Amino acid sequence: MTARNTVCIAIDGEAASGKSTLGRLLAGKLGYLYFDTGVMYRAVAWAALQRAIDIHDEQAVTELAAQINIQITPPGCDDGRHYSVFVDGVDVSWAIREPAVDKVVSIVAAYPGVRQVLKGHQRQIGLTHNVVMVGRDIGTEVMPDADLKIYLRAPVEERARRRYLELQARGEEVSYEEVLNSMRQRDYQDSHRAVAPLRAADDAIVIDTGHLSVEEMVTRALKIVRSKLGEHSSVTSCTDSPIR
Ligand code: DC
Repeated sequence: MTARNTVCIAIDGEAASGKSTLGRLLAGKLGYLYFDTGVMYRAVAWAALQRAIDIHDEQAVTELAAQINIQITPPGCDDGRHYSVFVDGVDVSWAIREPAVDKVVSIVAAYPGVRQVLKGHQRQIGLTHNVVMVGRDIGTEVMPDADLKIYLRAPVEERARRRYLELQARGEEVSYEEVLNSMRQRDYQDSHRAVAPLRAADDAIVIDTGHLSVEEMVTRALKIVRSKLGEHSSVTSCTDSPIR
């Protein structure tokens, strides 16, 4: 543990590498707050599309990020969501998962000003909760002092397959090739941007999830948590209130 009296577990990795699933299940087992930071970038991208702001207008998108109020709360309804996301009071929990947002979100996430605004909110949550934080730069930028850092990777074809099945289950009409291409493009953009590019922190434990079932992935991560955090990993916290 650091000087904080809360515990932060950072999970970073490529799109559809299993971060969200692992983060949610791990948080549930430990009684920690689960915080998927990607939803904040998605919320900004959604708001820009909604307001017909040119996604390539860095200044306008950055101003938007500072203006909007993003709230993440427990689900509140029973439609398969794991949490709810609101932008200025509008429920965007599903809208931020649509392919239109997928297509532009990494452009938004590359803007330094957007990252600065969202990082401030994320760090505040990371410092004050027992939390499993999921993202791309949690271990490197947002919570470099995290108590444990896990980095997930898997082959792009396998990740595209997972995302394709997810979209199909939601009734989205996309082909596997489209998903694969979009994922390759996003991988490239996320790992080549100038600010906080996707990479494993030097002190992260890397797990390749390509051939692991969800259960195997969680078991492996729990073992790491127990060996690294010991008794601190049984700390529980109240996760019933909005985190912003
Ligand atoms: O994990 P995701 O697909 O919901 O993330 C959406 C986008 O946000 C993706 O392009 C990566 C970016 N992101 C980021 O840059 N930093 C984070 N901490 C979380 C997500």
